[in-house]
Amino acid sequence: MSFTAIERRTPPRLYRSKLFVPGSRPALFEKAAAGPADVICMDLEDAVAPADKDQARDNIVAALNDVNWGDKIVTVRINGLDTNFCYRDVLALVEKGGERLDSIMIPKVGTGADVYAIDMLITQASSHVGRKKKIGLEVIIETTLGLTNIDDICTASKRLESLHFGSADYAASQGMRTTNIGGGNADYVMLTDKHPDAARERHWNDLWHYPLFRMCQAARAHGIVPIDGPFGDYSDPDGFRVQAMRTAILGCEGKWAIHPSQVALANEIYTPPQKEFERAEAILAAMKDAQEKGLGAVALNGVLIDAASIRQAQVIVQQMAMIREKSKA
Ligand code: COA
Ligand code: MG
Repeated sequence: MSFTAIERRTPPRLYRSKLFVPGSRPALFEKAAAGPADVICMDLEDAVAPADKDQARDNIVAALNDVNWGDKIVTVRINGLDTNFCYRDVLALVEKGGERLDSIMIPKVGTGADVYAIDMLITQASSHVGRKKKIGLEVIIETTLGLTNIDDICTASKRLESLHFGSADYAASQGMRTTNIGGGNADYVMLTDKHPDAARERHWNDLWHYPLFRMCQAARAHGIVPIDGPFGDYSDPDGFRVQAMRTAILGCEGKWAIHPSQVALANEIYTPPQKEFERAEAILAAMKDAQEKGLGAVALNGVLIDAASIRQAQVIVQQMAMIREKSKA
């Protein structure tokens, strides 16, 4: 390891599914609170029309005080720093939202200074009302500027807990030729080489691989949790599944749900499969045995395992311990 230790800044919590609820539809708040999502995000930004912003803010403040959110992580997406709703969102949430709010999500972050500015507002407002619980920050990486400045963003505030990838705004920002929110594109393909005996095949590529990979890498280098964003076609559970599976494998701890039907899918896919968990436990047992015998690397079922395997296995075992704890509650 480097002499620079990476410490996880985010408390060990489950982030498998994050259900979005528009702030302008307060009738959905209780339903969201009663459902199986690990995280609830009440939205003040793009799901709320400009004329409804003030009412939505009032609805959310009331819900933070009145709704029983159980053991969920409760977060609110505020409006962007380029609007005049943003500062009013922060002040209302911190000064009137009570102690239940866990974190504030900032959309379209472009620079570390964006995060610093919101931290400053939260800090002043928290001090003014004597707030006890620290409010965390969640940031959406959904612009080319944000992706370019991602390391500065990660170090801009001690409140930062998670990075989220927003595919639709990211695509717009880069001028990508797609109107999908996540998902594939039949024209973003490779053709297999010409071959006299075989027809050429079109292989679809993953449009979102680079920004998501980059976001996961930056988040982990700074001890922050990466989370995959929305998959817009909620009538396509298979499409949701494969995208969620890819990002789970890359290191994301969860994914947004923009409809309740996506919550169970996310909970399932970001829970390590039983087989992987059993293998992780077997690796830890085999490595313990190897260490007792003074061995560094050994074979498990014909496959090499060593000290790196312990670190990989621990990630899975710790995640499962949290999931089991939650299902007992
Ligand atoms: N949270 C909690 N419950 C929800 C919900 C949500 N986000 N969306 C729908 N429901 C409930 C409905 O009230 C309905 O409940 P019922 O069976 O008791 O009547 C049930 O789930 C099925 O809803 P459905 O009729 O399929 O959806 P809809 O047409 O009412 O709403 C959306 C569809 C997509 C508009 C809605 O799910 C939504 O607003 N999602 C969040 C969008 C968002 O915040 N986007 C910003 C981030 S990208
Ligand atoms: Mg967005």
